[in-house]
Amino acid sequence: MSRVSEIMESLEYGPSVEDSGAVRAWLRQYAPFGHFIGGRFTTAGNIFTSRDPSTGEALADVSQGSPADIARAVEAARKAQKTWAALSGSERGRHLYAIARHVQKRERFLSVLETLDNGKPLRESRDIDIPLVARHFYHHAGWAELRDSEFPGQAPLGVCGQIIPWNFPLLMLAWKIAPALAAGNTVVLKPAEYTPLTALAFAEICHEVGLPPGVVNIVTGDGQTGAALVEAKLDKIAFTGSTEVGRQIADRLAGSGTPLTLELGGKSPFVVMPDADLDAAVEGVVDSIWFNQGQVCCAGSRILVAEAVASRFEDLLRARMARLRVGAPLDKSTDIGAIVDPVQKHRILAICAAATAAGAELVGGESGEGCFVAPGYLRNIAPANPGMEQEIFGPIATLSTFRTADEAIELANNTRYGLAGSVWSESATVATDIAARIKAGVIWINCANMFDAAAPFGGYRESGFGREGGRAGMRDYLVEPKAKPAKEPPASQPVLLDRTEGKGGEIDRTMKLYIGGAQKRPDGGAMYRVPGGLAPLGSRKDIRNAVEAAAKAGRWAAMGGHARAQVLYYIAENLAARAEEFARRTSRQEADAAIARAFHYAAWADKFDGANVQARPGHLVNVIPEPFGVMAIACPNTQPLAAFMSLVMPAIAMGNSVVAIAAQDDPLVLADLYQVFDTSDLPGGVVNIVTGVRGELARTAAAHDAVAAMWHVGDTDGLAAVEHAAGGNLKPVWSPANRDWTKDDAQGAVFLRHATQWKTVWLPYGALPAGSGSAAY
Ligand code: NAI
Repeated sequence: MSRVSEIMESLEYGPSVEDSGAVRAWLRQYAPFGHFIGGRFTTAGNIFTSRDPSTGEALADVSQGSPADIARAVEAARKAQKTWAALSGSERGRHLYAIARHVQKRERFLSVLETLDNGKPLRESRDIDIPLVARHFYHHAGWAELRDSEFPGQAPLGVCGQIIPWNFPLLMLAWKIAPALAAGNTVVLKPAEYTPLTALAFAEICHEVGLPPGVVNIVTGDGQTGAALVEAKLDKIAFTGSTEVGRQIADRLAGSGTPLTLELGGKSPFVVMPDADLDAAVEGVVDSIWFNQGQVCCAGSRILVAEAVASRFEDLLRARMARLRVGAPLDKSTDIGAIVDPVQKHRILAICAAATAAGAELVGGESGEGCFVAPGYLRNIAPANPGMEQEIFGPIATLSTFRTADEAIELANNTRYGLAGSVWSESATVATDIAARIKAGVIWINCANMFDAAAPFGGYRESGFGREGGRAGMRDYLVEPKAKPAKEPPASQPVLLDRTEGKGGEIDRTMKLYIGGAQKRPDGGAMYRVPGGLAPLGSRKDIRNAVEAAAKAGRWAAMGGHARAQVLYYIAENLAARAEEFARRTSRQEADAAIARAFHYAAWADKFDGANVQARPGHLVNVIPEPFGVMAIACPNTQPLAAFMSLVMPAIAMGNSVVAIAAQDDPLVLADLYQVFDTSDLPGGVVNIVTGVRGELARTAAAHDAVAAMWHVGDTDGLAAVEHAAGGNLKPVWSPANRDWTKDDAQGAVFLRHATQWKTVWLPYGALPAGSGSAAY
């Protein structure tokens, strides 16, 4: 044993291991575990073993859920849902509050169980995960109370299927279950196969607090159990996990109309500007990348540092890295615990090997016996190196440099993901400028990996869609106000113009495509007959040209709401001046509706606000609606003018540019709109219009990677085809019902919500010491 004088000399930490006796006794008493269905545990069967990844020791046997188990759980959830939804908000809120209190009472127990099952250091489960679990249930107890006043007229979706990963097992459960229950839904949740134990302890809490049977059901198992849940025809699926599985689920649900939210992977940038507080930024790396062994979807795993400070930053980083303690997760002084499973460890090492084979140099990152990988980073790494492109999901960052802010942004956005980003600069102007230009759902300025129930969390691009947390998260568990649906006439087979026709005067008018603010003949020159004349038969190439023109119109978003409002008012005014003409070409109602839409969304252009939410003291947390960029909109085959204006005006009011696919059978009236747009100062490329076979054009637009979001009004088959095509880059597809587009329910904030994505920006303020960006809650 060391003498005190020696310890004073070396300042070594001695072991300080948390007692796991109570947890082990609980496991001995209750394992093997069945599923939690209808308020009771089923008899265990078809078991698999959950292990402590730091030692390989078997912790408990758990049951592999079959499709029959899923069916029973869904039935229990269905049975419970009506009664649960019929409780008053206050009553539901009290149940959630009771859960929060019980989680707090059992905080130590749950932290130890989480650490044993997952391998994360106790410091994290005790100081971050479990307090945040309680925080989520408290916060959503409040939303349950306030649902009817804050979301008037909105109803719960019904029974929700929820699939979660292993990196934050109980926290992900809380993120999913709390808002679902607050809104009045019941749930069937499947935890990850590596980490099912805290979900089972949570089931026990539900029982203890007297939550009505069937409101929460938990079925354990692997991906097959998850796949069975996706097949169970539920009212919503919420998934967090890998992009690959997210894409499979999106494809499986295409055309089903099932609401889906996906929270997927990331490869988030960590940008260190030349004027950053480098010590704080290095501490941020610890919070962002080495926290939870790097097994964090929003880890800032691509460090981009200004060349001018790169060498000093790297020195500090190496020094800090050398002091991190890798070891037994239950030891209170461990910084880096175990990787969740040998499979994951091998995945991390394989990516590192591929990265070094491709020329990168690995600093640190040693791995020895057991499921441990030391923190490290890859340097001298080219942009196309596999280590730069793939989500490593381990404690290994990449380190590269930039010279200018523009280059930093280019590198930061050079990824298919868009989950998060961290920016370090002592200049508020620089930091907020970079934050605004990174394409991601969450940005931390001078901090990293901050989470809170009030702060929406979720991604852009291939990091998924939908939000968890706050008002936006609640909305994803409620049915949107619905318009009375109207049947859409099926499109006719286009009759092509014979080239010998059209000279004898029987063709009244010929329209062109509208691309980049100019009228264009379609690629190939084919035209088809429409009432009153001829329309161009747009091709895939025309869609590609339109997307290119729309992508060049980025200045539109930067103009700001006030400037955009003026253009929309001008459109309204010019339409009104030609109201009689438009009424003759369509109908009085359609012409009036078109004018009304332009006025309505001109009014909204500078008023669809975000919020400053009360996530944590000392932090400004802004939730900002941002445009997607390029949107594609497939208009219905009816009311060509009113529907077009109802759909396109909200999209452009929010700063998007649009590729609109016109009503197939009757698009001619839009030719007159071209002149209205031209005379209303609408910049070229903001609205592009393509006519032709709508289904084909919509599929092409949905498959295009530069299109960030898609709206589709039309039949289920058309929607299924569009949703399959959109799966490539996981763009969100919204399918508002066809309706009478001249009525008032064809406008409003619901359209604006689908024309924007929420960006949450965290900014600590006040006199904070360096490194206080710590994720410790
Ligand atoms: P995964 O996506 O396979 O697993 C996540 C959850 O989905 C688990 O509950 C799993 O049982 C379930 N699942 C798997 N296949 C399914 C299917 N076909 N249908 C329905 N549910 C299914 O992730 P995995 O294999 O555990 O990790 C692989 C990689 O995914 C990691 O290395 C990491 O890159 C990424 N990942 C990202 C996470 C995030 O938070 N975004 C979380 C976990 C993993």
